[in-house]
Amino acid sequence: MRILVTGGAGFIGSNLIRKLLVNGHKVLNIDKLTYAGNRATIHDLEETPAHQLVVGDICDQSLVERCFDEFKPQAVIHLAAESHVDRSILSPSSFISTNILGTYSMLQAALAYWRKCDAAIHHSFRFLHVSTDEVYGTLGTSGSFVEESRYDPRSPYSSSKAASDHLVRAWWHTYRLPVLIASSCNNYGPFQHPEKLIPTIILRSLCNAPIPIYGRGEQIRSWIHVSDNCYALQAILESGVLGETYNVSAESELSNLDMAHRICGLLDSIQRMRELNGPQQPVLQESFKSWKKLGTYSKLISFVDDRPGHDFRYSLDASKIQNALNWKPTVSLNSGLHETVMWYIRNQDWWESVKMRTQTP
Ligand SMILES: NC(=O)c1ccc[n+]([C@@H]2O[C@H](COP(=O)([O-])OP(=O)(O)OC[C@H]3O[C@@H](n4cnc5c(N)ncnc54)[C@H](O)[C@@H]3O)[C@@H](O)[C@H]2O)c1
Repeated sequence: MRILVTGGAGFIGSNLIRKLLVNGHKVLNIDKLTYAGNRATIHDLEETPAHQLVVGDICDQSLVERCFDEFKPQAVIHLAAESHVDRSILSPSSFISTNILGTYSMLQAALAYWRKCDAAIHHSFRFLHVSTDEVYGTLGTSGSFVEESRYDPRSPYSSSKAASDHLVRAWWHTYRLPVLIASSCNNYGPFQHPEKLIPTIILRSLCNAPIPIYGRGEQIRSWIHVSDNCYALQAILESGVLGETYNVSAESELSNLDMAHRICGLLDSIQRMRELNGPQQPVLQESFKSWKKLGTYSKLISFVDDRPGHDFRYSLDASKIQNALNWKPTVSLNSGLHETVMWYIRNQDWWESVKMRTQTP
């Protein structure tokens, strides 16, 4: 298939494009290359003829329309967004424009194209919008959100994503544009921006710097390895029922403090292995240059003032996608976190270059 992906130089988009290319698809990637989207993230794709990057803003409707008309996609996976909650609190404006107006522009361009495209494309065309568990709001210690749960977003980020979901559903009900929505829990894995929780814990540890944890670290998040999320997105695109929403979750819940301890424990054991086996251990040969002999990384955990309006717990019930599309997560939290920590240790050049391009809001 020819698939138009937005936000493909970001974390999930870049991981997804690699999988789409392996499966033989052709990809047109529209990405504005904000601080969150980096050429370094997709440098291995630059020479791949099946992948083409268009550097541009999804709010620029004439650009988006041209991409549709020239590439003639058979499907769209719309990921481009401003995605960091803390930034949305400090500076919501780009969240409103990209997440809401950008989605509007994508829907309008997709609709115009879908109405006039070849019959073969018209009948099988699909627009998959990527959303988040945060649109449902916050939970207490028990229960999980299902696809029918009431929307109750609390942050500028989650409310802008909720608004975009409503637009997507409106284009289905009003114009019959063939849409699908995937609502995913927190992703982790390679190429995640250093400002996000798991990379922050890893990189602060590696740099022997305090690991900032909001409040007392009691907030609970549900985690999925990005590769499992990408498989879910492909399953929804291929076999999901039009107009439907699918929750995507591996149902691995952890408080932020427990996550920090888990990663610090992993770093301790990696360092112990390194000391026992020496640099000849192939897996650790190219290890991070500044390993610290701390004994226990968790001493770096440091509580900071809580985020305003910090949601206590997110949890998704993923039985719909499991039963209807036969999708299941395959990466356990333990092995996924170990692989992720090793990835950041081995890819210091990547995260240093990304950090250099990133301004604190
Ligand atoms: N990462 C998660 O845990 C998670 C969980 C649930 C849902 N999501 C959703 O998945 C999608 C991707 O998330 P991510 O973590 O990969 O985000 P990211 O911040 O890593 O990447 C976003 C990408 O979008 C691009 N972009 C931003 N504004 C743009 C614009 N106006 N025009 C074109 N491109 C633009 C950026 O350059 C970047 O490459 C988002 O829609 C996000 O809301 C993410």
